[in-house]
Amino acid sequence: MNNKPLTDTPEWRQLVRQASSMKHASMRELFAADASRASDLCLEACGLFLDYSKNLVDRQTMHQLLALAQTCEVHPAAERMFGGERINQTENRAVLHTALRERREDVSICVDGEDVLPAVREVLDQMGRFSDAVRSGDWVGHTGKRIRNIINIGIGGSDLGPAMAYEALKPYSQRDVQVQFVSNVDGTHLAEALLGLNPEETLFVVVSKTFTTQETMTNAQSAREWLLDTMEDEASVARHFVAVSTNKEAVSAFGIDPANMFVFWDWVGGRYSMCSAVGLTLMLAIGKENFGRMLDGFHAMDRHFMEAPYDQNMPVLLGLLGIWYNNFLGAQTHAVLPYDQYLARFAAHLQQMDMESNGKYVNEDGITVRWQTGPIIWGEPGTNGQHAFYQLIHQGTKLIPADFIGFCKSHHPMGDHHDKLLANFLAQTEALAFGKTRSEVEREGVQGPLVPHKVFMGNRPTNTILADQLTPEVLGSLTALYEHKVFVQGVIWQVFSFDQWGVELGKALASKILPELVAEDEVELSHDSSTNALIRRIRAARRS
Ligand code: F6P
Repeated sequence: MNNKPLTDTPEWRQLVRQASSMKHASMRELFAADASRASDLCLEACGLFLDYSKNLVDRQTMHQLLALAQTCEVHPAAERMFGGERINQTENRAVLHTALRERREDVSICVDGEDVLPAVREVLDQMGRFSDAVRSGDWVGHTGKRIRNIINIGIGGSDLGPAMAYEALKPYSQRDVQVQFVSNVDGTHLAEALLGLNPEETLFVVVSKTFTTQETMTNAQSAREWLLDTMEDEASVARHFVAVSTNKEAVSAFGIDPANMFVFWDWVGGRYSMCSAVGLTLMLAIGKENFGRMLDGFHAMDRHFMEAPYDQNMPVLLGLLGIWYNNFLGAQTHAVLPYDQYLARFAAHLQQMDMESNGKYVNEDGITVRWQTGPIIWGEPGTNGQHAFYQLIHQGTKLIPADFIGFCKSHHPMGDHHDKLLANFLAQTEALAFGKTRSEVEREGVQGPLVPHKVFMGNRPTNTILADQLTPEVLGSLTALYEHKVFVQGVIWQVFSFDQWGVELGKALASKILPELVAEDEVELSHDSSTNALIRRIRAARRS
Protein backbone atom coordinates (compact mmCIF):
# COMPACT_ATOMS: atom_id res chain seq x y z
CA MET A 1 0.00 0.00 0.00
CA ASN A 2 3.12 2.23 0.10
CA ASN A 3 2.14 3.54 3.50
CA LYS A 4 -0.57 5.74 2.10
CA PRO A 5 -2.35 7.13 5.17
CA LEU A 6 -4.58 4.29 6.22
CA THR A 7 -7.43 6.60 7.04
CA ASP A 8 -7.43 7.94 3.47
CA THR A 9 -8.10 4.59 1.86
CA PRO A 10 -11.59 4.00 0.50
CA GLU A 11 -11.82 0.80 2.57
CA TRP A 12 -11.15 2.71 5.79
CA ARG A 13 -13.65 5.44 4.93
CA GLN A 14 -16.24 2.85 4.10
CA LEU A 15 -15.69 1.23 7.48
CA VAL A 16 -16.07 4.58 9.24
CA ARG A 17 -19.50 4.92 7.62
CA GLN A 18 -20.34 1.32 8.42
CA ALA A 19 -19.42 1.88 12.06
CA SER A 20 -21.90 4.69 12.46
CA SER A 21 -24.72 2.37 11.45
CA MET A 22 -23.43 -0.72 13.28
CA LYS A 23 -22.81 1.20 16.52
CA HIS A 24 -26.45 0.80 17.39
CA ALA A 25 -26.90 -2.67 15.93
CA SER A 26 -28.61 -5.25 18.03
CA MET A 27 -27.27 -8.76 18.21
CA ARG A 28 -30.78 -10.02 18.80
CA GLU A 29 -31.82 -8.48 15.50
CA LEU A 30 -28.71 -9.60 13.66
CA PHE A 31 -29.35 -13.20 14.68
CA ALA A 32 -33.09 -12.98 14.04
CA ALA A 33 -32.54 -11.60 10.55
CA ASP A 34 -30.05 -14.23 9.51
CA ALA A 35 -30.86 -17.87 10.22
CA SER A 36 -27.46 -19.11 9.10
CA ARG A 37 -25.42 -16.51 10.96
CA ALA A 38 -24.04 -18.92 13.57
CA SER A 39 -23.24 -21.61 11.04
CA ASP A 40 -21.63 -19.17 8.61
CA LEU A 41 -19.66 -16.90 10.92
CA CYS A 42 -17.44 -19.65 12.19
CA LEU A 43 -14.54 -21.73 11.05
CA GLU A 44 -12.37 -24.63 12.05
CA ALA A 45 -8.62 -24.97 11.66
CA CYS A 46 -5.73 -26.75 13.37
CA GLY A 47 -7.91 -28.26 16.10
CA LEU A 48 -9.55 -24.92 16.92
CA PHE A 49 -13.13 -23.94 16.26
CA LEU A 50 -13.81 -20.21 16.08
CA ASP A 51 -17.35 -18.88 16.41
CA TYR A 52 -17.28 -15.17 15.64
CA SER A 53 -21.01 -14.78 15.13
CA LYS A 54 -21.47 -12.95 18.46
CA ASN A 55 -19.73 -9.85 17.16
CA LEU A 56 -21.23 -6.48 16.31
CA VAL A 57 -20.82 -7.12 12.61
CA ASP A 58 -23.00 -8.01 9.69
CA ARG A 59 -21.91 -9.63 6.44
CA GLN A 60 -21.23 -6.25 4.91
CA THR A 61 -18.93 -5.30 7.76
CA MET A 62 -16.98 -8.52 7.33
CA HIS A 63 -16.77 -7.92 3.63
CA GLN A 64 -15.38 -4.43 4.18
CA LEU A 65 -12.90 -5.61 6.80
CA LEU A 66 -11.65 -8.29 4.43
CA ALA A 67 -11.23 -5.64 1.75
CA LEU A 68 -9.09 -3.68 4.21
CA ALA A 69 -6.82 -6.71 4.68
CA GLN A 70 -6.56 -6.95 0.93
CA THR A 71 -5.67 -3.32 0.40
CA CYS A 72 -3.16 -3.40 3.24
CA GLU A 73 -1.49 -6.38 1.60
CA VAL A 74 -1.45 -8.58 4.66
CA HIS A 75 -0.56 -11.73 2.76
CA PRO A 76 2.40 -10.28 0.84
CA ALA A 77 3.71 -8.94 4.16
CA ALA A 78 3.40 -12.42 5.69
CA GLU A 79 5.27 -13.86 2.74
CA ARG A 80 8.10 -11.44 3.40
CA MET A 81 8.24 -12.50 7.04
CA PHE A 82 8.10 -16.22 6.33
CA GLY A 83 10.64 -15.77 3.54
CA GLY A 84 13.30 -14.35 5.85
CA GLU A 85 13.32 -10.73 4.67
CA ARG A 86 14.66 -8.22 7.17
CA ILE A 87 11.26 -6.85 8.04
CA ASN A 88 12.42 -5.74 11.50
CA GLN A 89 13.96 -2.71 9.89
CA THR A 90 14.90 -0.66 12.95
CA GLU A 91 17.05 -3.58 14.15
CA ASN A 92 17.91 -4.73 10.63
CA ARG A 93 16.79 -8.28 11.36
CA ALA A 94 14.74 -10.99 9.77
CA VAL A 95 11.73 -12.24 11.77
CA LEU A 96 11.68 -16.00 11.54
CA HIS A 97 10.06 -17.52 14.60
CA THR A 98 8.09 -19.58 12.09
CA ALA A 99 11.34 -21.31 11.06
CA LEU A 100 11.68 -22.63 14.61
CA ARG A 101 8.65 -24.85 14.09
CA GLU A 102 9.10 -25.68 10.42
CA ARG A 103 8.40 -29.41 10.47
CA ARG A 104 8.85 -30.17 6.79
CA GLU A 105 12.15 -31.76 5.83
CA ASP A 106 12.08 -30.70 2.19
CA VAL A 107 12.07 -26.92 2.54
CA SER A 108 14.75 -24.37 3.23
CA ILE A 109 14.44 -20.91 4.75
CA CYS A 110 17.30 -18.59 4.00
CA VAL A 111 18.69 -15.55 5.72
CA ASP A 112 21.40 -13.87 3.66
CA GLY A 113 21.55 -16.88 1.39
CA GLU A 114 22.04 -19.40 4.21
CA ASP A 115 19.45 -22.00 5.14
CA VAL A 116 18.68 -21.59 8.85
CA LEU A 117 16.87 -24.90 9.26
CA PRO A 118 19.89 -27.20 9.81
CA ALA A 119 20.95 -25.06 12.79
CA VAL A 120 17.37 -25.02 14.11
CA ARG A 121 17.25 -28.83 14.01
CA GLU A 122 20.71 -29.13 15.55
CA VAL A 123 19.69 -27.05 18.58
CA LEU A 124 16.43 -28.96 18.94
CA ASP A 125 18.46 -32.19 18.98
CA GLN A 126 20.84 -30.75 21.55
CA MET A 127 17.88 -29.72 23.71
CA GLY A 128 16.38 -33.19 23.30
CA ARG A 129 19.59 -34.92 24.38
CA PHE A 130 19.97 -32.66 27.37
CA SER A 131 16.37 -32.99 28.50
CA ASP A 132 16.50 -36.77 28.12
CA ALA A 133 19.63 -36.82 30.27
CA VAL A 134 18.14 -34.64 33.01
CA ARG A 135 14.77 -36.39 33.01
CA SER A 136 16.30 -39.87 33.12
CA GLY A 137 18.74 -38.98 35.85
CA ASP A 138 21.83 -39.44 33.65
CA TRP A 139 22.66 -35.79 34.17
CA VAL A 140 23.52 -35.37 37.81
CA GLY A 141 24.63 -32.45 39.92
CA HIS A 142 28.20 -31.79 41.06
CA THR A 143 27.92 -34.20 44.00
CA GLY A 144 26.28 -36.94 41.95
CA LYS A 145 22.70 -36.23 42.98
CA ARG A 146 19.78 -36.34 40.59
CA ILE A 147 18.22 -33.02 39.54
CA ARG A 148 14.92 -32.49 41.38
CA ASN A 149 14.47 -28.74 40.93
CA ILE A 150 14.73 -26.65 37.80
CA ILE A 151 14.70 -22.88 37.98
CA ASN A 152 14.30 -20.87 34.80
CA ILE A 153 15.84 -17.43 35.20
CA GLY A 154 14.71 -14.97 32.52
CA ILE A 155 12.30 -12.12 31.99
CA GLY A 156 9.86 -10.92 29.32
CA GLY A 157 10.06 -13.19 26.31
CA SER A 158 12.64 -15.30 28.09
CA ASP A 159 10.08 -16.11 30.75
CA LEU A 160 6.45 -15.53 29.81
CA GLY A 161 6.07 -17.91 26.86
CA PRO A 162 7.73 -20.93 28.46
CA ALA A 163 6.15 -20.17 31.85
CA MET A 164 2.70 -19.95 30.24
CA ALA A 165 3.25 -23.19 28.33
CA TYR A 166 4.69 -25.02 31.35
CA GLU A 167 1.56 -24.11 33.28
CA ALA A 168 -0.68 -25.04 30.35
CA LEU A 169 0.96 -28.40 29.74
CA LYS A 170 1.41 -29.48 33.34
CA PRO A 171 -0.54 -32.69 32.74
CA TYR A 172 2.26 -33.67 30.36
CA SER A 173 5.08 -32.81 32.75
CA GLN A 174 7.32 -35.03 34.83
CA ARG A 175 5.88 -34.46 38.28
CA ASP A 176 8.86 -35.53 40.36
CA VAL A 177 10.83 -32.52 39.18
CA GLN A 178 9.82 -29.14 40.56
CA VAL A 179 9.95 -26.39 37.94
CA GLN A 180 9.87 -22.69 38.76
CA PHE A 181 10.26 -19.48 36.77
CA VAL A 182 12.04 -16.54 38.36
CA SER A 183 11.90 -13.23 36.55
CA ASN A 184 11.53 -10.24 38.86
CA VAL A 185 14.64 -8.41 40.03
CA ASP A 186 12.84 -8.13 43.36
CA GLY A 187 14.95 -10.50 45.47
CA THR A 188 11.76 -11.88 46.94
CA HIS A 189 11.10 -13.81 43.75
CA LEU A 190 14.38 -15.72 43.82
CA ALA A 191 14.46 -16.04 47.61
CA GLU A 192 11.01 -17.63 47.69
CA ALA A 193 11.90 -19.96 44.81
CA LEU A 194 15.06 -21.15 46.55
CA LEU A 195 13.41 -21.69 49.90
CA GLY A 196 13.94 -25.25 51.07
CA LEU A 197 15.77 -26.35 47.92
CA ASN A 198 18.89 -28.45 48.02
CA PRO A 199 21.53 -26.82 45.76
CA GLU A 200 22.94 -30.26 44.99
CA GLU A 201 19.66 -31.14 43.27
CA THR A 202 19.00 -27.79 41.59
CA LEU A 203 19.57 -26.83 37.97
CA PHE A 204 19.38 -23.21 36.79
CA VAL A 205 18.49 -22.46 33.19
CA VAL A 206 19.55 -18.87 32.55
CA VAL A 207 17.65 -17.55 29.55
CA SER A 208 18.49 -14.23 28.01
CA LYS A 209 18.77 -13.33 24.36
CA THR A 210 21.24 -10.56 25.13
CA PHE A 211 22.67 -11.98 28.38
CA THR A 212 22.87 -8.41 29.62
CA THR A 213 19.33 -7.90 30.97
CA GLN A 214 19.67 -6.40 34.45
CA GLU A 215 17.00 -8.51 36.11
CA THR A 216 18.19 -11.82 34.69
CA MET A 217 21.88 -11.22 35.31
CA THR A 218 21.22 -10.09 38.89
CA ASN A 219 19.11 -13.18 39.60
CA ALA A 220 21.66 -15.44 37.90
CA GLN A 221 24.54 -13.99 39.97
CA SER A 222 22.61 -14.42 43.21
CA ALA A 223 21.66 -17.98 42.26
CA ARG A 224 25.33 -18.67 41.54
CA GLU A 225 26.31 -17.33 44.98
CA TRP A 226 23.61 -19.44 46.61
CA LEU A 227 24.98 -22.53 44.87
CA LEU A 228 28.59 -21.78 45.75
CA ASP A 229 27.71 -21.10 49.40
CA THR A 230 27.01 -24.81 49.67
CA MET A 231 29.26 -26.30 47.01
CA GLU A 232 32.33 -24.17 47.69
CA ASP A 233 33.68 -25.27 44.31
CA GLU A 234 33.55 -23.12 41.19
CA ALA A 235 33.53 -26.25 39.05
CA SER A 236 30.00 -26.99 40.32
CA VAL A 237 28.63 -24.11 38.22
CA ALA A 238 29.08 -26.19 35.08
CA ARG A 239 26.79 -28.94 36.42
CA HIS A 240 24.14 -26.63 37.84
CA PHE A 241 23.92 -23.83 35.29
CA VAL A 242 23.06 -23.95 31.62
CA ALA A 243 22.40 -20.95 29.40
CA VAL A 244 20.11 -20.08 26.53
CA SER A 245 21.32 -17.06 24.63
CA THR A 246 22.54 -15.48 21.42
CA ASN A 247 25.56 -14.03 23.25
CA LYS A 248 28.29 -16.67 23.55
CA GLU A 249 30.94 -14.34 25.01
CA ALA A 250 28.75 -13.17 27.88
CA VAL A 251 27.72 -16.75 28.69
CA SER A 252 31.35 -17.87 28.92
CA ALA A 253 32.23 -14.81 30.99
CA PHE A 254 29.53 -15.83 33.48
CA GLY A 255 31.31 -19.18 33.92
CA ILE A 256 28.83 -21.38 32.12
CA ASP A 257 30.44 -24.15 30.10
CA PRO A 258 29.90 -23.30 26.41
CA ALA A 259 29.04 -27.00 25.95
CA ASN A 260 25.97 -26.32 28.06
CA MET A 261 24.87 -23.32 26.08
CA PHE A 262 21.87 -23.51 23.79
CA VAL A 263 21.90 -20.90 21.08
CA PHE A 264 19.27 -19.07 19.17
CA TRP A 265 19.52 -16.28 16.67
CA ASP A 266 18.94 -12.57 16.28
CA TRP A 267 16.02 -13.31 13.94
CA VAL A 268 14.05 -14.70 16.89
CA GLY A 269 12.27 -11.92 18.76
CA GLY A 270 12.07 -12.41 22.54
CA ARG A 271 8.28 -12.54 22.71
CA TYR A 272 8.19 -14.98 19.79
CA SER A 273 10.94 -17.23 21.10
CA MET A 274 9.22 -20.02 23.02
CA CYS A 275 9.74 -22.52 20.17
CA SER A 276 13.50 -21.91 20.25
CA ALA A 277 15.95 -22.99 22.95
CA VAL A 278 14.13 -20.45 25.12
CA GLY A 279 11.68 -23.32 25.60
CA LEU A 280 14.38 -25.52 27.19
CA THR A 281 12.84 -25.49 30.66
CA LEU A 282 9.51 -26.38 29.12
CA MET A 283 11.11 -29.28 27.27
CA LEU A 284 12.80 -30.41 30.49
CA ALA A 285 9.36 -30.50 32.09
CA ILE A 286 7.29 -32.12 29.34
CA GLY A 287 9.92 -34.03 27.36
CA LYS A 288 11.03 -33.67 23.77
CA GLU A 289 8.11 -35.62 22.27
CA ASN A 290 5.49 -33.35 23.79
CA PHE A 291 7.57 -30.30 22.91
CA GLY A 292 7.61 -31.59 19.32
CA ARG A 293 3.83 -32.00 19.43
CA MET A 294 3.54 -28.36 20.49
CA LEU A 295 5.76 -27.34 17.56
CA ASP A 296 3.46 -29.36 15.26
CA GLY A 297 0.55 -27.23 16.47
CA PHE A 298 2.45 -23.99 15.89
CA HIS A 299 3.44 -25.17 12.43
CA ALA A 300 -0.10 -26.18 11.52
CA MET A 301 -1.32 -22.66 12.33
CA ASP A 302 1.60 -21.15 10.37
CA ARG A 303 0.51 -23.13 7.31
CA HIS A 304 -3.12 -22.22 7.82
CA PHE A 305 -2.20 -18.53 8.06
CA MET A 306 -0.21 -18.71 4.85
CA GLU A 307 -2.59 -20.87 2.85
CA ALA A 308 -6.18 -20.07 3.82
CA PRO A 309 -8.01 -17.30 1.96
CA TYR A 310 -8.66 -14.24 4.10
CA ASP A 311 -12.31 -15.06 4.75
CA GLN A 312 -11.34 -18.52 6.03
CA ASN A 313 -8.21 -17.43 7.83
CA MET A 314 -8.43 -17.45 11.61
CA PRO A 315 -5.62 -15.02 12.44
CA VAL A 316 -6.79 -12.65 9.71
CA LEU A 317 -10.38 -12.73 10.97
CA LEU A 318 -9.39 -12.20 14.60
CA GLY A 319 -7.06 -9.40 13.59
CA LEU A 320 -9.75 -7.67 11.56
CA LEU A 321 -12.37 -7.99 14.28
CA GLY A 322 -9.91 -6.48 16.73
CA ILE A 323 -9.35 -3.57 14.34
CA TRP A 324 -13.09 -3.11 13.98
CA TYR A 325 -13.51 -2.50 17.70
CA ASN A 326 -10.21 -0.70 18.24
CA ASN A 327 -10.41 1.70 15.32
CA PHE A 328 -14.06 2.05 14.46
CA LEU A 329 -16.07 1.40 17.61
CA GLY A 330 -13.74 3.02 20.13
CA ALA A 331 -12.75 0.02 22.27
CA GLN A 332 -9.58 0.56 24.26
CA THR A 333 -8.98 -2.93 25.55
CA HIS A 334 -9.35 -6.55 24.59
CA ALA A 335 -10.01 -9.27 27.16
CA VAL A 336 -8.74 -12.82 26.84
CA LEU A 337 -10.73 -15.15 29.06
CA PRO A 338 -9.67 -18.79 29.04
CA TYR A 339 -12.01 -21.22 30.73
CA ASP A 340 -9.18 -23.47 31.79
CA GLN A 341 -7.07 -23.09 34.89
CA TYR A 342 -4.07 -24.42 32.96
CA LEU A 343 -4.19 -21.23 30.86
CA ALA A 344 -3.76 -19.02 33.91
CA ARG A 345 -0.70 -17.31 32.39
CA PHE A 346 -2.01 -17.11 28.83
CA ALA A 347 -3.16 -13.50 29.04
CA ALA A 348 0.18 -12.48 30.57
CA HIS A 349 2.03 -13.99 27.61
CA LEU A 350 -0.33 -12.31 25.15
CA GLN A 351 0.15 -9.00 26.93
CA GLN A 352 3.81 -8.95 26.02
CA MET A 353 3.26 -10.49 22.60
CA ASP A 354 0.63 -7.94 21.62
CA MET A 355 1.47 -4.80 23.57
CA GLU A 356 5.24 -4.89 23.03
CA SER A 357 4.61 -5.56 19.33
CA ASN A 358 1.92 -3.05 18.46
CA GLY A 359 2.15 -0.48 21.24
CA LYS A 360 3.69 2.07 18.86
CA TYR A 361 2.65 5.56 17.84
CA VAL A 362 4.87 6.05 14.84
CA ASN A 363 4.51 4.23 11.56
CA GLU A 364 7.21 2.55 9.53
CA ASP A 365 8.25 5.95 8.15
CA GLY A 366 8.61 7.40 11.62
CA ILE A 367 5.50 9.52 11.26
CA THR A 368 2.98 9.77 14.07
CA VAL A 369 -0.05 7.71 13.13
CA ARG A 370 -3.50 9.27 13.10
CA TRP A 371 -5.24 6.11 14.19
CA GLN A 372 -5.29 3.92 17.24
CA THR A 373 -2.77 1.06 17.35
CA GLY A 374 -2.42 -1.80 19.84
CA PRO A 375 -5.14 -2.33 22.44
CA ILE A 376 -4.65 -3.03 26.13
CA ILE A 377 -4.70 -6.81 26.53
CA TRP A 378 -5.84 -8.29 29.79
CA GLY A 379 -7.63 -11.27 31.21
CA GLU A 380 -7.96 -13.97 33.82
CA PRO A 381 -9.28 -17.49 33.69
CA GLY A 382 -13.01 -18.04 33.99
CA THR A 383 -14.87 -18.59 36.17
CA ASN A 384 -12.78 -16.46 38.56
CA GLY A 385 -13.25 -13.35 36.45
CA GLN A 386 -17.02 -13.72 36.62
CA HIS A 387 -16.89 -12.98 40.33
CA ALA A 388 -14.57 -10.05 39.87
CA PHE A 389 -14.58 -7.85 36.77
CA TYR A 390 -17.34 -9.27 34.56
CA GLN A 391 -19.81 -6.86 36.13
CA LEU A 392 -18.15 -4.08 34.16
CA ILE A 393 -18.13 -6.09 30.94
CA HIS A 394 -21.86 -6.77 31.31
CA GLN A 395 -23.14 -3.46 32.60
CA GLY A 396 -20.28 -0.98 32.46
CA THR A 397 -20.00 1.98 30.10
CA LYS A 398 -17.07 0.61 28.15
CA LEU A 399 -17.03 -1.61 25.12
CA ILE A 400 -14.85 -4.61 25.91
CA PRO A 401 -14.49 -7.17 23.15
CA ALA A 402 -13.43 -10.51 24.58
CA ASP A 403 -12.14 -13.88 23.48
CA PHE A 404 -13.59 -16.82 25.36
CA ILE A 405 -11.37 -19.90 25.10
CA GLY A 406 -12.68 -23.27 26.23
CA PHE A 407 -12.13 -27.01 25.91
CA CYS A 408 -14.71 -29.76 25.54
CA LYS A 409 -12.76 -32.21 27.68
CA SER A 410 -10.90 -31.69 30.91
CA HIS A 411 -7.67 -33.32 31.98
CA HIS A 412 -9.39 -33.82 35.31
CA PRO A 413 -12.87 -35.24 34.79
CA MET A 414 -13.75 -34.78 38.44
CA GLY A 415 -17.45 -35.01 39.28
CA ASP A 416 -19.39 -32.35 37.38
CA HIS A 417 -16.72 -29.62 37.57
CA HIS A 418 -16.18 -29.49 33.86
CA ASP A 419 -19.90 -29.48 33.04
CA LYS A 420 -20.29 -26.47 35.29
CA LEU A 421 -17.23 -24.77 33.84
CA LEU A 422 -18.56 -25.19 30.30
CA ALA A 423 -22.05 -24.11 31.27
CA ASN A 424 -20.59 -20.86 32.58
CA PHE A 425 -18.38 -20.50 29.52
CA LEU A 426 -21.40 -20.69 27.23
CA ALA A 427 -23.72 -18.69 29.46
CA GLN A 428 -21.41 -15.70 29.57
CA THR A 429 -21.17 -15.15 25.83
CA GLU A 430 -24.91 -15.63 25.50
CA ALA A 431 -25.60 -13.11 28.25
CA LEU A 432 -23.09 -10.64 26.83
CA ALA A 433 -24.53 -10.83 23.34
CA PHE A 434 -28.24 -10.89 24.02
CA GLY A 435 -28.60 -9.34 27.46
CA LYS A 436 -31.97 -9.02 29.18
CA THR A 437 -34.50 -6.40 28.21
CA ARG A 438 -36.63 -4.25 30.48
CA SER A 439 -39.76 -6.22 29.63
CA GLU A 440 -38.02 -9.52 30.34
CA VAL A 441 -36.97 -8.20 33.72
CA GLU A 442 -40.50 -7.04 34.45
CA ARG A 443 -41.94 -10.37 33.34
CA GLU A 444 -39.86 -11.93 36.09
CA GLY A 445 -41.82 -9.87 38.59
CA VAL A 446 -39.28 -7.13 39.20
CA GLN A 447 -40.85 -3.73 39.54
CA GLY A 448 -40.07 -0.11 40.22
CA PRO A 449 -36.64 1.39 40.73
CA LEU A 450 -34.90 -1.99 40.71
CA VAL A 451 -35.74 -2.66 37.07
CA PRO A 452 -32.96 -0.66 35.35
CA HIS A 453 -30.36 -2.27 37.60
CA LYS A 454 -31.38 -5.67 36.37
CA VAL A 455 -31.43 -4.84 32.67
CA PHE A 456 -28.55 -6.10 30.52
CA MET A 457 -28.14 -4.16 27.31
CA GLY A 458 -26.32 -6.98 25.56
CA ASN A 459 -24.48 -6.34 22.28
CA ARG A 460 -21.18 -7.03 24.04
CA PRO A 461 -19.01 -8.76 21.44
CA THR A 462 -17.18 -12.01 21.96
CA ASN A 463 -15.29 -14.62 19.99
CA THR A 464 -15.58 -18.19 21.16
CA ILE A 465 -12.55 -20.37 20.58
CA LEU A 466 -13.25 -23.99 21.32
CA ALA A 467 -10.97 -27.03 21.15
CA ASP A 468 -11.36 -30.63 22.12
CA GLN A 469 -8.75 -30.61 24.88
CA LEU A 470 -5.73 -28.55 25.86
CA THR A 471 -3.05 -30.72 24.28
CA PRO A 472 0.47 -29.66 23.23
CA GLU A 473 -0.73 -29.38 19.61
CA VAL A 474 -3.69 -27.22 20.56
CA LEU A 475 -1.56 -24.94 22.73
CA GLY A 476 0.83 -24.50 19.81
CA SER A 477 -1.97 -23.65 17.37
CA LEU A 478 -3.63 -21.31 19.83
CA THR A 479 -0.43 -19.41 20.58
CA ALA A 480 0.48 -19.13 16.89
CA LEU A 481 -3.06 -17.92 16.20
CA TYR A 482 -2.46 -14.91 18.43
CA GLU A 483 1.06 -14.34 17.09
CA HIS A 484 -0.32 -14.04 13.58
CA LYS A 485 -3.30 -11.99 14.69
CA VAL A 486 -0.83 -9.47 16.14
CA PHE A 487 1.10 -9.56 12.87
CA VAL A 488 -2.02 -8.87 10.80
CA GLN A 489 -2.88 -5.87 12.96
CA GLY A 490 0.67 -4.51 12.87
CA VAL A 491 0.67 -4.65 9.06
CA ILE A 492 -2.65 -2.81 8.85
CA TRP A 493 -1.59 -0.18 11.38
CA GLN A 494 1.74 0.19 9.54
CA VAL A 495 3.85 -0.16 12.67
CA PHE A 496 7.02 -2.16 13.12
CA SER A 497 5.76 -5.04 15.26
CA PHE A 498 9.12 -6.60 15.97
CA ASP A 499 11.12 -3.96 17.77
CA GLN A 500 10.55 -2.58 21.27
CA TRP A 501 12.34 0.75 21.62
CA GLY A 502 9.73 1.83 24.11
CA VAL A 503 11.35 -0.22 26.86
CA GLU A 504 14.71 1.55 26.58
CA LEU A 505 14.17 4.90 28.30
CA GLY A 506 13.10 3.35 31.59
CA LYS A 507 16.09 1.01 31.52
CA ALA A 508 18.50 3.91 30.92
CA LEU A 509 17.02 6.03 33.69
CA ALA A 510 17.12 3.09 36.13
CA SER A 511 20.86 2.76 35.45
CA LYS A 512 21.28 6.43 36.24
CA ILE A 513 19.18 6.28 39.40
CA LEU A 514 20.77 3.12 40.81
CA PRO A 515 24.09 4.73 41.88
CA GLU A 516 22.20 7.74 43.20
CA LEU A 517 20.06 5.52 45.41
CA VAL A 518 22.95 3.60 46.90
CA ALA A 519 25.64 6.32 47.19
CA GLU A 520 27.07 6.64 50.71
CA ASP A 521 27.45 10.39 50.49
CA GLU A 522 24.98 13.03 49.44
CA VAL A 523 24.79 13.19 45.66
CA GLU A 524 23.55 15.91 43.41
CA LEU A 525 20.34 14.81 41.75
CA SER A 526 19.48 16.01 38.29
CA HIS A 527 15.97 14.67 37.77
CA ASP A 528 12.65 16.48 37.95
CA SER A 529 11.59 17.68 41.39
CA SER A 530 9.23 14.75 41.95
CA THR A 531 11.81 12.08 41.16
CA ASN A 532 14.51 13.91 43.17
CA ALA A 533 12.24 14.09 46.19
CA LEU A 534 11.32 10.42 45.96
CA ILE A 535 14.99 9.43 45.74
CA ARG A 536 15.78 11.54 48.81
CA ARG A 537 12.86 10.04 50.72
CA ILE A 538 13.93 6.47 49.95
CA ARG A 539 17.55 7.24 50.84
CA ALA A 540 16.50 8.76 54.15
CA ALA A 541 14.21 5.86 55.01
CA ARG A 542 16.88 3.29 54.26
CA ARG A 543 19.42 5.11 56.44
CA SER A 544 17.15 5.29 59.45
O1 F6P B 1 11.74 -5.71 27.95
C1 F6P B 1 12.43 -5.70 26.78
C2 F6P B 1 13.00 -7.03 26.41
O2 F6P B 1 14.01 -6.80 25.49
C3 F6P B 1 11.96 -7.99 25.83
O3 F6P B 1 11.64 -7.72 24.52
C4 F6P B 1 12.65 -9.29 26.04
O4 F6P B 1 11.78 -10.36 25.87
C5 F6P B 1 13.14 -9.12 27.44
O5 F6P B 1 13.53 -7.75 27.50
C6 F6P B 1 14.26 -10.00 27.87
O6 F6P B 1 15.41 -9.82 27.10
P1 F6P B 1 16.59 -10.86 27.13
O7 F6P B 1 16.09 -12.17 26.65
O8 F6P B 1 17.65 -10.28 26.25
O9 F6P B 1 17.08 -10.98 28.55
